Amino acid sequence: NGILHVEDVSVVELVEKLGTPLYITSRSKLEANLKAYKDAFPEAGLLYAVKANNNISIMRIIARKGFGADVFSGGELYMAMLAGFKPETILFNGNSKSDDEIRMGVKTGVKFSVDSLDELYTISEIALEEGKDVEMAFRINPEIDPKTHPKIATGLKTSKFGIPWGRVLDAYRIALELPNIVPIGIHCHIGSQITELSPFVEALNRLFDVAVKLEEMGIEVKFLDLGGGLGIDYEGKGAPTPKDFANIILPVFEKRSKELRSKPELWLEPGRSIVGDTTILLTRVNAVKRSYKNFVAVDAGFNLLIRPAMYGAYHRVAVANKMDKPAEDVYTIVGPICESGDILAEDRKLPKVEKGDLIVIFDTGAYGFVMSSQYNGRPRCAEVLVDGSRWYVIRERESYYDLIGRQMIPDFLL
Ligand code: LLP
Repeated sequence: NGILHVEDVSVVELVEKLGTPLYITSRSKLEANLKAYKDAFPEAGLLYAVKANNNISIMRIIARKGFGADVFSGGELYMAMLAGFKPETILFNGNSKSDDEIRMGVKTGVKFSVDSLDELYTISEIALEEGKDVEMAFRINPEIDPKTHPKIATGLKTSKFGIPWGRVLDAYRIALELPNIVPIGIHCHIGSQITELSPFVEALNRLFDVAVKLEEMGIEVKFLDLGGGLGIDYEGKGAPTPKDFANIILPVFEKRSKELRSKPELWLEPGRSIVGDTTILLTRVNAVKRSYKNFVAVDAGFNLLIRPAMYGAYHRVAVANKMDKPAEDVYTIVGPICESGDILAEDRKLPKVEKGDLIVIFDTGAYGFVMSSQYNGRPRCAEVLVDGSRWYVIRERESYYDLIGRQMIPDFLL
């Protein structure tokens, strides 16, 4: 009938009840993505990257399918625990952990990916105080170009992340000497939205090169963590699936494992490829203006989806209440924010767009809501989970009170 549905739910009916803007997630799509990873990597440790989408309900679905978690802050650790991830399946990542965050991780009993020697010394001191041993890996900088957007390439020689390639073995030597520190793995993460698989193979080889040396030092390497980064198909041009990824990675893993006395586990930290295509952002047209371009002004902007403004990212769009109408004209979808860069989609062929129409922005489940802000005095929107013909509000829309609720007024202004 020309109306976009998420599973069996009409988005027009949803927004009649809940308003716009609205993030809508499909449970079945999420579960299909989880299954695809489990099927492709039956023996690997799969750690969901919480930073991609930290809604508790979404994470609980992921945790209940047997995934672990990659967390990057105390807040993410807190949310991951609430979602039901088991501490022993959580890896605490991050290049700038505070002493308080480290203590929280040690007390919770998670594993650590350590990014600097300063961090290592602090973990050892705190672990000693708490009477706990901490199992850890170093995040190493493998100096690899992942062929993605420069802002999301994280394993380049110039990157802030990881132990510099030339100092990795020394770092492990120091770890071996420190009290309450148990080195058991090697970690890297080369970037995000990677659609060419060869950089992953290079990175895996780097991990094995280190593992062989660590065995010689007497360390039993229990896991090699290749990080996240598998890209998704934003543009409809195709992207590798978890199965394609496995077909490239696993043979290398098997072959090189033979160089080691005991076979390590392969760990992965997918974020985007788990949640990215499970979710749409639905937004209402406030005005259509024929100007230098045909501007369609909608009620969501970079306050709710920053990827286009920040990375020049492409997201497919459509008119959700006119899915059966042919494209007629070229439109540029802009948000309500007082910045020229608040453009969600440029020069798209769409059916005739009018005030009141609903624009759908696809593939917004990863790095969408989590990167939102209240800029320009805009409360954040609601999130909904659809399950067949049922739907559940999984985050309420914020109110104006949420814009000021934590502010304090000094006496002289009362
Ligand atoms: N592991 C680590 C250590 C990471 O830093 C990341 C992402 C992941 C795993 C998950 O990567 P994924 O599978 O999602 O590619 N905001 C950017 C992406 C930033 C990615 C940061 N690190 C975007 O919207 O494209």
